[in-house]
Amino acid sequence: MDSGAHSGRRVGGKTMRTIYLNGQYVPENEGQVSVFDRGFLFADAVYEVVSVLDGRLVDFDGHVARLARSLGEIDIRGAPDAEAWMDICRTLVVRNDLTEGMIYWQVTRGAPEDRDFVFPSAGTKPTVLAFTQSRRLADNPLARRGIRVVTMPDLRWGRADIKTTQLLYASLMKNAAIARNADDAWMERGGFITEGSAQNAHIITHDGVLVTHPLNREILHGITRAAVLPLVAQRIEERPFTVTEAEQAAEAFVSSASGFVMPVVEINGKIIGNGIPGSATVQLREAYIDWARRTAI
Ligand code: PDD
Repeated sequence: MDSGAHSGRRVGGKTMRTIYLNGQYVPENEGQVSVFDRGFLFADAVYEVVSVLDGRLVDFDGHVARLARSLGEIDIRGAPDAEAWMDICRTLVVRNDLTEGMIYWQVTRGAPEDRDFVFPSAGTKPTVLAFTQSRRLADNPLARRGIRVVTMPDLRWGRADIKTTQLLYASLMKNAAIARNADDAWMERGGFITEGSAQNAHIITHDGVLVTHPLNREILHGITRAAVLPLVAQRIEERPFTVTEAEQAAEAFVSSASGFVMPVVEINGKIIGNGIPGSATVQLREAYIDWARRTAI
């Protein structure tokens, strides 16, 4: 059923967003997915988070390309193409009056008739979901304060480069970090930082070099990371860095579609720089937001 509304309906004092599910625009409380959906039973699904500024999509092409790659890596077929995603996003932005925030996209392998480890037959259509989240991204109080992170072992599977919905470990770590009075977690493998719970991790050394993990299967190939690196004034080294290097860095930050460039001011209780967002990081955040506004479509 199509809600047809341009802003959500109200139910019990709450405004219901219009979401997209399998070809239809419906109020958020009316979308239905089978209990046998492989996204639900196996986390057999991939996703994207695309930010929206001034009602326009940031780095749309990058997110569509990464989604196609994720789908290809786990052989899910039949998802919308770039043009269809654009249409879905534009419709959701208009119907939900979204000026700033995110659009979440998810594609699962679909819902066969029963639970089975074996993939369903080719006739099973993927489940396609998209919804908006209204949020202030550019003027984010956390970016003025900077975040505190703690390091934890990276116990995820070996294909962190595929953006799957298997987010339990990331969620456990984020909650453990909050329980330790931090804001988030950075993951570490063999003494080297891989990435944040849902962000890429970067440091700037006292010699003014930006160090960031190279693109391989240990990290998600961040769309924000790719857009930020060309804006960096410093020399860049793409190599793994240690927990100790991070704790002793001049500046540190994370990048993601929802946080943009987010300063890190404390790592494992060690103050980074002066304990306030570093000047290079602040400049980079501004440069990224400028770029994002200029290129959003
Ligand atoms: N997270 N690394 C991980 C593990 C992530 O989950 C994300 C994104 C990133 C940054 O990628 P990008 O710059 O393309 O957003 C790195 C999204 C925002 C999320 O799960 O909400």
